[in-house]
Amino acid sequence: MEIIIQENAERAARMTAKLIADAVREKPTLVLGLATGGTMEKVYEFLAEFHAKDSLDFSRVVTFNLDEYVGLPAEDPRSYRYYMEEHLFRHVNIKPENTHLPDGTASDLKSECQRYEELIKSSGGVDLQLLGVGRSGHIGFNEPLSALRSRTRATTLSPVTIEQNQIYFGESAMPSRAITVGVGTILESRRCLMLALGKQKAAVVAKALEGPISSMISASALQLHPHCTVIVDEEAAADLKEKEYYRLIFKTEPDWEAYR
Ligand code: F6R
Repeated sequence: MEIIIQENAERAARMTAKLIADAVREKPTLVLGLATGGTMEKVYEFLAEFHAKDSLDFSRVVTFNLDEYVGLPAEDPRSYRYYMEEHLFRHVNIKPENTHLPDGTASDLKSECQRYEELIKSSGGVDLQLLGVGRSGHIGFNEPLSALRSRTRATTLSPVTIEQNQIYFGESAMPSRAITVGVGTILESRRCLMLALGKQKAAVVAKALEGPISSMISASALQLHPHCTVIVDEEAAADLKEKEYYRLIFKTEPDWEAYR
C-alpha cells in the first residue's frame, strides 16, 4: 500500500485526477471503477478540465460505478447516475453506452447484481478502481459486517451512513438500501486508488490503514490489495501514526517524481 499525504484537499484531488488521467493515457480502453460523494466532486472537476484543456480522451474508456440507491431512478437528482452525469459524464467525451451503474429500480435485485458482476467480468475486469471511504469504514456501500469476499449485492445502509448522506435528501427520508459492488469484487481490480479528505475522515482512515483487517471496517481490506494507493489531505491524515515514514517514501521513491 502507498499512502500519500498532500497538504490540502485541492492538491490531493488534483493528484488523484492526475493518476486517473495518466492511466487513461497509458490505456485508452481503460476500465475505470468510479465512486460518488462529496470527496469525488473536485476529482471530476479536474478530469473535466484535463479533457477540455489537455484533450484527455474518454472515447474508449469504460466505467463501472460502485453503487446506487435502491428505488431511485436515473432521473432522480439524488441518484448516483444523475450525480455522474452532472459531475463527469456530460463534461467529457465518454460514450453513454460505456458508462455503467447498477439499476436500483430493478424488480429483481439479485439478478441485477448478478448481471452487473458478469458485465464487469466480460469487460475484462476493472483496471483502476477509484474509492472514497465512509465514516462507517465502508468502500462502495460495504457497511460493517460485509464479508471481505463479498460480491455485488443489495445491502442495508448503517445508521452512520444514513447520518453522513442525509444532507443530500433534505427533509425527505433517504433510501435505506443500496446495491453495492462487493469487497471481494473491489479487491479483484488491478489497481485501487482511494481518496479521503477532511478531519471527519481522520479516525476511519487510521483504522482502515493502520488497524487490523476487519469486516467491521471494509476499507481495511485494501491492505490485502497488491497495488493500492491512498491519497489523503493533512486533515484526514491527522490520526495516522507513521505519517513521517509515508512522507519519506513519497519524497524518495522515483515513481512519485511526477506527482510531488
Ligand atoms: C459512493 C461510495 C462511498 C463514498 C463514501 C464517501 O459511491 O462509494 O463509499 O465514497 O461514502 O463519501 P463522501 O465523499 O461524500 O464523504
